[in-house]
Amino acid sequence: PVVLSVASEIYPLIKTGGLADVAGALPLALEDLGLRVRSLLPAYPTVMAKLTNGSTPEPILDLPDLFGGNARVLTVRYADLDLLLLDAPHLFDRPGGPYITETGQDHADNWARFAALSKAAAEIAGGAIAGFQPDILHAHDWQAALAPVYLAFNGTKGVRSVVTIHNLAFQGAFAPDIFAKLGLPRSAWSLEGVEYYGSVGYLKGGLHAADVVTTVSPTYAEEILTPEGGMGLDGLLAGRGNRLVGIVNGIDTDAWDPATDAALPQTYSVKTLKARARNKRALEAEFGLAHNDDPVFCVISRLTWQKGMDLLAEAADEIVSSGVRLAIFGSGDRMIEGAFHAAHARHPDRIGVKIGYDEALAHRIQAGADAIIIPSRFEPCGLTQLCGLRYGCVPVVSRVGGLADTVINANYAAVQSNVATGTIFAPVTAKSLHDAVVRTRDLYRQPALWQSMQKRGMATDVSWTASAARYVELYRGLIEGEPPQ
Ligand code: ADP
Ligand code: GLC
Repeated sequence: PVVLSVASEIYPLIKTGGLADVAGALPLALEDLGLRVRSLLPAYPTVMAKLTNGSTPEPILDLPDLFGGNARVLTVRYADLDLLLLDAPHLFDRPGGPYITETGQDHADNWARFAALSKAAAEIAGGAIAGFQPDILHAHDWQAALAPVYLAFNGTKGVRSVVTIHNLAFQGAFAPDIFAKLGLPRSAWSLEGVEYYGSVGYLKGGLHAADVVTTVSPTYAEEILTPEGGMGLDGLLAGRGNRLVGIVNGIDTDAWDPATDAALPQTYSVKTLKARARNKRALEAEFGLAHNDDPVFCVISRLTWQKGMDLLAEAADEIVSSGVRLAIFGSGDRMIEGAFHAAHARHPDRIGVKIGYDEALAHRIQAGADAIIIPSRFEPCGLTQLCGLRYGCVPVVSRVGGLADTVINANYAAVQSNVATGTIFAPVTAKSLHDAVVRTRDLYRQPALWQSMQKRGMATDVSWTASAARYVELYRGLIEGEPPQ
């Protein structure tokens, strides 16, 4: 199959979260399985700035008058990715992030920016680029979700569409007056189209129009069918029946390999696990923690309500008095950042806090901390627990979404049969988080058991291989007209 993948962020060019990791790594894994994949994303200034030495984008398609200005599609290869860049200066050539301005507001014309991305995708899927006819249009999240809507309402034939939900909390809902500017027929203002409780719902429209909807773990695929997890879309999703599929994410196991990772003070593997201690000492120094025998549990996360970071802040004092130190890294909610700063002030040499975004530091933390705490209230997949497994940084996770699917809880049976890889807790409260930290500390205090858990995590397959094969199966089924299993 030939695939057009569409996303608003792609690692290593632009990233605000796990979406970029997936949109960057899945195409490469699919190509390893013999598919041709091209990835469409906006030509943001940060993206253009990275395309230096040797990678010169070439124009391949003109899109005159795309939402108020002339646009082009450029083609370029970068970091093994076959990229199509939507160069629409009136929409994308501006300061700020992909979704927000420098002062943290949503770009006021986000509706036009991502309708444009989707419209360009639909035209390319319809054959606008000579010599490139996709069989599958694979759209990620709300920013690309109008693409299958354009395909469906333009009557484009022969192309199958997939929408992947990475996070149902972000749906791309806009005021109804933009509908007239989308270039969709009136019939799209309907239950089958983009109408959503009187607004225009980009994700809603895509979930309806796509031939198949996927999400990034089997458990999240079930959770979003409930009123609590469905965020208003549970009814629609339930109606998709076996056309809603959960496929767990992988990580790029070359970029995340403790044996070769250039970001680490000390590389290591399952066979040289003892060498990992040097990374822990470096981490203690970097986070201003006193050197002692207590375990260091880390956080690498957006500091938000979704991630349960307020619960960790609430439990921090008790965690420290239970003989566990914390190294907290991330950024997000100002209140939560403030709560962590305050916790640090109370326990300066037992809680280290760094606010920011830094890939290399994320690697050093995974390589040095004993465990990683992920107390999410909901988590479509989660990638940091996968990195934790690969780095021997034992995951302590809430029993939700992809966290529940990728970690084997160290309950009595799992410990007896040597299969545990982490600790899982429920309900998602400060108390049960603290209890899980204490259980994990007790495992840490049994060195042979702990090391066997670390090694099992490191031996767990967290690569894309198995999941990419599932996407291929799904694409082939769609092309051959069979419903997914
Ligand atoms: P989400 O996309 O919901 O934020 P994921 O776990 O899917 O959560 O992906 C988060 C990604 O962002 C991971 O690759 C993680 O390593 C990375 N990350 C999160 N916070 C930081 C940070 N402060 N610095 C560097 N990388 C980070
Ligand atoms: C979203 C989700 C996260 C998932 C990522 C990649 O950001 O919050 O759980 O891992 O997308 O699919």
